[in-house]
Amino acid sequence: MKAAVIGCGRMGLRHIQALTEMGSKIVGIHDAVPQATNGAIKQFNLGEIAFNSFEGLLSETKPELVVIATTAPSHRQYIEQSIEHGVKYILCEKPLSVSIADCESILAMSKQHKANVAVNHQMRFLEQYIKPKALAVSKEFGGLACINVTAGNFGMAMNGTHYFEMARFMFDEYPKKICAWFGQDDLSNPRGAQFMDKSGSVRMETKSGKRFYLDASADQGHGLLVNYVCKFGQIFVDELSGDLRYTRRQDEFQDLPTTRYGQPSIIVDEKINAVDIIESTKAVITALISGSGYPSIEDSMYAVRTLVAAYVSNENNHIEIDIESNDLPKERVFPWA
Ligand SMILES: NC(=O)c1ccc[n+]([C@@H]2O[C@H](COP(=O)([O-])OP(=O)(O)OC[C@H]3O[C@@H](n4cnc5c(N)ncnc54)[C@H](O)[C@@H]3O)[C@@H](O)[C@H]2O)c1
Repeated sequence: MKAAVIGCGRMGLRHIQALTEMGSKIVGIHDAVPQATNGAIKQFNLGEIAFNSFEGLLSETKPELVVIATTAPSHRQYIEQSIEHGVKYILCEKPLSVSIADCESILAMSKQHKANVAVNHQMRFLEQYIKPKALAVSKEFGGLACINVTAGNFGMAMNGTHYFEMARFMFDEYPKKICAWFGQDDLSNPRGAQFMDKSGSVRMETKSGKRFYLDASADQGHGLLVNYVCKFGQIFVDELSGDLRYTRRQDEFQDLPTTRYGQPSIIVDEKINAVDIIESTKAVITALISGSGYPSIEDSMYAVRTLVAAYVSNENNHIEIDIESNDLPKERVFPWA
């Protein structure tokens, strides 16, 4: 398949690697900074395929797949240009964009043109989520009730959006309400002084009452642990080391009420695969081309709405905000990368 990559920074290079390994032919690359395209050409021996403009790249090379790996402010422009040119498959990096209005515009245009657009939230293809989900829904665990993410100091836009999408995937339900407590200081971003993020903590709830807690506050400097709490057991995943431990009631005690939480346990320790960004990105591309099962515009727009609602909550005494509310500030542009 003929592919083009826009944005040849750290993630763009990973996309070029993924596409190359999948047998795609990279027919064009574009970046605002020539050193970035030069670096990519050298690293992957691509030949003279750098274009000064995306428009020129599209007209000359007619790619079937466009990957957008620039920082977030230009995601909308490149997705919409690709749709206008009739590009068959479009994969964009997260976060989908920097405002709800942008996301709505992308969604409307993709629907109008029946475009295939995926966003690179790879969570559903990572063993660190697939495995706990399979355990949680089993009869032995009785279903997932709550997720606790205890993380180091990371940004709500850079990483939080991945975890919002993870919660949707794990619960099979969009979160409905959120409260947020952000730190006072902005979190700077190595991608440029114009980018700012927020660390802190959030509490989300789905319509059916499932809970999600994320604490990635600025005074937390080590590790990334996720705890999945189910009716009859708990699953603990150290996402950095790949250690998974679970504890669950022995089967004969399942009929007892939840207040009898101290029943004899089965405790199991396992290893899971470390996160592989290239392989999980390939899985997103494969799903996009197959036509189903990929992280959609709707999924990633929901992650953006959740983040906007978190800002609103934080700025209004941490009150609970309805993520689906029409009162969210749609036009407000955020400094996310
Ligand atoms: N899915 C993931 O696991 C994952 C991991 C890391 C980063 N990301 C996302 O990928 C995107 C890129 O991150 P990165 O780490 O590669 O950043 P980066 O700063 O290393 O690279 C971004 C590149 O885009 C170029 N660029 C920016 N605006 C442009 C524009 N308007 N036109 C052309 N080129 C432009 C820059 O010159 C730079 O070379 C971000 O949105 C980030 O959130 C996703």
